[in-house]
Amino acid sequence: MATNWLPFWMLILSWCCHLLPGDTFRAFVLAENVRLDLTTANGYQWQTSLPNGSLTVAGHVPGGIYTDLERADILQDGPLLYRFNDGNYRWIAYNDWNYALDFDVDPLLVNQPGVFLVLHGVDTVAQIRLNGFFLGETDNMFVRYRFNVRNLLKAEGNQLRVELRSPVTVSRNRYEEQLMDYIVPPRCVPPEYQGECHANFIRKMQASFSWDWGPAFPSMGLWKAVSLETYEALTLRDVYVATSLNGTNWQVDLRLYCETIDIGVSHSGTWTVRLVDNNGVLIHEMVADSLLTGNGDQEATAQYQLKIAAAQIEPWMPNGYGNPTLYNLSVSYAANGKVAVTKEMRIGFRTVVLVEDDLQTGGRTFYLQVNDVPIFLKGSNWIPADVLPELVTTEYIRDLLTSCVDANMNSLRVWGGGIYELDAFYQIADELGILIWQDFMFACSMYPTTSWFLESVSVEVVQQVRRLQYHPSVVLWAGNNENEAALRGNWYGTIGNFDLYRQDYIILYVDTIREIVRKEDPSRPFVVSSPSNGKASEEEGHIARDPYSELYGDVHHYNYYVNAWNTSSYPRPRMSTEYGFQALPSVHSWAAVSDPFNDDDWSFNGALLSNRQHHPLGNFEMELQVSSRFGLPKSNLSSRTGLLDMMYLTQMHQAQAIKTQTQHYRRHRYQLAENGAGLTMAALYWQLNDIWQAPSWASIEYGGRWKPLHYFAVDFFAPLLVILTELGDGTVAAFIHFDRRQDLVVGTLTVSIRSWDRLDPLATFSSLINQDVLPGEPVWVRSLTELFNETNCTRESCFITSSFSDPATGQENIAPPNYVFLTSFPNIANMQMANVQIVDVGTVYATEKSEWTVNVTLATDYVAAFVWIDAGRIAGTFSTNGFLFCEHFKTIKFYSKTQIIDTEEFRSELSLIHLSQIIL
Ligand SMILES: *[C@@H]1O[C@H](CO)[C@@H](O)[C@H](O)[C@H]1NC(C)=O
Ligand SMILES: *[C@@H]1O[C@H](CO)[C@@H](O)[C@H](O)[C@H]1NC(C)=O
Ligand SMILES: *[C@@H]1O[C@H](CO)[C@@H](O)[C@H](O)[C@H]1NC(C)=O
Ligand SMILES: *[C@@H]1O[C@H](CO)[C@@H](O)[C@H](O)[C@H]1NC(C)=O
Ligand SMILES: *[C@@H]1O[C@H](CO)[C@@H](O)[C@H](O)[C@H]1NC(C)=O
Ligand SMILES: *[C@@H]1O[C@H](CO)[C@@H](O)[C@H](O)[C@H]1NC(C)=O
Ligand SMILES: *[C@@H]1O[C@H](CO)[C@@H](O)[C@H](O)[C@H]1NC(C)=O
Repeated sequence: MATNWLPFWMLILSWCCHLLPGDTFRAFVLAENVRLDLTTANGYQWQTSLPNGSLTVAGHVPGGIYTDLERADILQDGPLLYRFNDGNYRWIAYNDWNYALDFDVDPLLVNQPGVFLVLHGVDTVAQIRLNGFFLGETDNMFVRYRFNVRNLLKAEGNQLRVELRSPVTVSRNRYEEQLMDYIVPPRCVPPEYQGECHANFIRKMQASFSWDWGPAFPSMGLWKAVSLETYEALTLRDVYVATSLNGTNWQVDLRLYCETIDIGVSHSGTWTVRLVDNNGVLIHEMVADSLLTGNGDQEATAQYQLKIAAAQIEPWMPNGYGNPTLYNLSVSYAANGKVAVTKEMRIGFRTVVLVEDDLQTGGRTFYLQVNDVPIFLKGSNWIPADVLPELVTTEYIRDLLTSCVDANMNSLRVWGGGIYELDAFYQIADELGILIWQDFMFACSMYPTTSWFLESVSVEVVQQVRRLQYHPSVVLWAGNNENEAALRGNWYGTIGNFDLYRQDYIILYVDTIREIVRKEDPSRPFVVSSPSNGKASEEEGHIARDPYSELYGDVHHYNYYVNAWNTSSYPRPRMSTEYGFQALPSVHSWAAVSDPFNDDDWSFNGALLSNRQHHPLGNFEMELQVSSRFGLPKSNLSSRTGLLDMMYLTQMHQAQAIKTQTQHYRRHRYQLAENGAGLTMAALYWQLNDIWQAPSWASIEYGGRWKPLHYFAVDFFAPLLVILTELGDGTVAAFIHFDRRQDLVVGTLTVSIRSWDRLDPLATFSSLINQDVLPGEPVWVRSLTELFNETNCTRESCFITSSFSDPATGQENIAPPNYVFLTSFPNIANMQMANVQIVDVGTVYATEKSEWTVNVTLATDYVAAFVWIDAGRIAGTFSTNGFLFCEHFKTIKFYSKTQIIDTEEFRSELSLIHLSQIIL
C-alpha cells in the first residue's frame, strides 16, 4: 500500500476559510488545483490479475498487460516480438484483466470542494470502481474519463479497481449483435494478417488487431496516467489558439476550456495570459476578469481575442521555408487573489488554407498554403511508433521526427489506423517545422453508426481536437483513411446495399465528425477522407465516382506489377498522399527476432518470414520486382545468403522505386498535362516507420535504423535537386527543381554519359545555371539516339549522371548527385565486378549533425551501383548510402549517435556490399 504526501512544491499553500454558497462552512481549501498522478513512477503499487485470481503480477501505470506480464517473467517464449510470439501470446488479449490499486491520500485533498478521478487513457473497455462503488464504464481508448469522487475518496484505505474486458471478445460480440440488423464489414482481416477481426467495433488503435505491416497485439491497459484532481472551483483543461492575420495585426482567438465542480453555479476569477518570445521578452499580456458557470457537463468556456502587431512576431514556417518559431503562452486562472491553475504551451503564428481553385483545363487545384506560401508536402506517413502504446518514448519520437528533418521532409500524415499521437509528438513536430496531416482514427472498414458508437466518437472528437488544436504543426484534419475509396471500390462487399453504407458513412464522417470539427476548430481545413476529391467528393454525395481522380484532391497509389523505375508507371495527381513498395528488414532487425541456429528462420521461403509477411502475395511481388529490375541473386533463396541477398535487393529496389516516383511527383508540381492532370503538391510515401521487424513499406526500421530508402529520401527531397528523366519522346532531360526560388543557387550543371565498364565518362555537357531557370522547364534535353551515336552507347551499356557544383568555389554537389538508368540490370551486359574498398577511417570530429563524426573514404576501380556501407552495432547514419559510385575515391561521413566512438571498434564494425557482388 502506498502512502503518498504532497510533494514539497505544493507546500506553498494558502490557507483560508470560505463561506460557500449553500450555507456550508468548509475549512481549509487549497487555493491551488492539485493533480496527483497515481502512477508507478510516483510510487503507487498497482497489481494486474486475471479475474479468477489465478495470476497476479505487478502492474504499471501508464502501461499495459503485455508488458506487465513480460516484466513479471510470465511469458516463457521470449520477448514479445521474438519469432512467433505474436501468436503465442495472443491468449493474453482473449482474457479479461483487472487492475487494482490500494492507496491513501493526504486528508487535505479529500476535503476539497472538487475531487475527481481522471483516467487519461484506458485501453479500452472497462468498469471502474472506487471503494466498491461503480463509477462507470470506459469504452474508448481516445477518451479521457472523469469521475466525481468527492464523497467516495477517503484519506486511507482506498481501493481503485479497473476491470478490463478482452477487446477481442467485446468486438466480436458487438459485431454479432450488429449482424442481427445488417453486417458492418469487413468480416475479418485477410488470413495473411494473422490478426483479430472487428477492430471497427472498438474505439482503440485499429492496428492493434494487426495490419499488413504489423502484428496483432490487442493491447489492454491504462496507457496514460490515472490521476486525482482537486480544485476549489474549476480547472483549465485545454486552450484553443487560432492565429490569423488581420491587417497589420496577428489576431489570436483563445478559448479557455474549463471543467467546473458544479452545474449552474458561477465562479468569479481572473485570467492572465502572457505571451513570451524565446528570449523571455514579454510580447503581450492580458488580464481579464471572468465569471464562469458550469453547464450540464460541468464545463465552461471563456473566450478572448488578442491583437499583436505583426511586426513583433516572427511567423511559424515549415522546415525548409523559414524558422518554425514558437512563443511561450501561459494562461493562468486566479480566484480570491490566488493562482489556481496555470497552463503553459508553445504556440506558433501561422495561417493555413487548403486551396481548391477551379482550373480551366478541368478539375481543381488541391494544395496547402501556410502563411500565404504554397507548400509542396514532402514526407511520409506515420504509423504508431509501437504496437504497444506503453513502449513509446519521447526520445524515440524525437529520433524518428529528427530523421524526417534530416531527410528534408516538411510533412507527415498521421494515418487513421493508429492513435491520436502523444503530446510529445506534436510538440516536437512544432519545434522541427513538420506539417501534420491528421487523420481521425478510422481506417479501411465500414463503421457502425449505432447511438453508443456515435456518442463515444463525438466525445473522442471533441477531446482530441481540443487537445491538439493549438499546435501550429497540425494543418489539416481528415475524417478517415480510405473509406470513401473502399465504398466506391466495393472492397468489403457493400455494393448490394450501397445506399445504406453511404448513409452510414455520411452520418459518421460528415454529420458527426465534420460538424464537431467545424465548431471546435474553424481554424484549419477538414477533408472527409484520404484519398478524396476534396470539394468534388462532397458535390458527388461524399462518395466520388472516382476518388482516385488525378484532377481532384489526393490519391493513394499502389501497383506492384509495373516497372517501378519507370515514371510512366505513375499517375499525376494533385496530391500523392500514399504510395510505396515493400522491402525486407535488415539483417540487424531480423537477427533480433529470429533464432540464429534455425535455418528456416533464415530463409526467404521460411515459415518465420512468411508469418511476418502480412501483405497477400507480398513476397511474390518483391521477388517479381527484384527479378525484373536486378535479376534474382546467384544464391539460393532458401539459403541464408539468399535471404541476405534479398534483403539487400528488395531494399535497393524499394529505394530506387520511391525515388523515381517521388521525383516524378515533384517534377509535376510545375507540369499541367493535356488531360488536366499534374500540378502535384504532395509526395507522402508510405510509410515512415515500422512497428515490428517484418517486410514492410517503411523507410526506417523498428528501432530507428535507416533503410536505403531513407538515405535516398535525403536526396530526392532536397530543396534543390537535379532530376534526370526520360521524357517518353526519345529524349532525356535534366530539370533543376527547387522548392522556393531562393533555394536556387547559381551553379554548374554537368551531365555525363557513362559506360558501365569504366569510371571516366564518355561525354560530358556543362552549363551554367543562373536564377532565370523557369520551374518545370528542362535545362538540358538531348535525343537519346544522338547521344548514343556520339558515344557509341546503347541503353544496355550506358547510364547518365548529373552533378551540380559551385563555379566560384568549385564545391561539388551543392545539389545531390543524380542519375538515370536507361534499362533494367538484367539487360546490362558490360557491368564489371568492381573492387570497392574502405581505404581510410578518419578521426572523430564535430559537425552540426553529430559531435562524433568520422570520415570514411572509399575507393573503387570500376563503376559500382547501390553501394551500401553498414556500421553494424554502432548507431548512427552516414551522409549518404546506397549510392552509385563512379569516381575513384569518395569520402562520406558517419554521424554517430553513440557518444563515445572508438574508431578501431567502428572500423571493425564496418562492412560493405554493392550490386555486382550479388548479381554478377
Ligand atoms: C483462471 O482463468 C485462467 C484464464 O482464463 C484459466 O486458464 C485458469 O484455469 C483459471 N483458473 C481457475 C482456478 O479457474
Ligand atoms: C479585423 O480587425 C477589425 C478591427 O479590429 C475587426 O473589425 C474585424 O472584425 C477583424 N476581422 C476579422 C476577420 O476578425
Ligand atoms: C518556453 O517553454 C519551454 C518548454 O516549456 C521552456 O523550455 C522554455 O524555457 C520557455 N522559454 C521561455 C523564454 O520562457
Ligand atoms: C517506360 O514505360 C513506357 C511506357 O510503357 C515505355 O514506352 C518506355 O520504353 C519505358 N522506359 C523504359 C526505360 O523502360
Ligand atoms: C553516327 O551517325 C553517323 C551518321 O548517321 C554515322 O556515320 C556514324 O557511324 C554514327 N556513329 C556511331 C558511333 O554510331
Ligand atoms: C562501339 O562499341 C562496340 C561494342 O561495344 C565496339 O565493338 C565498337 O568498336 C565501338 N565503336 C567505336 C567507334 O568505339
Ligand atoms: C572529412 O571529409 C571532408 C570532405 O568530405 C573534409 O573536408 C574534411 O576535412 C574531413 N575531415 C576530417 C577530420 O577528416
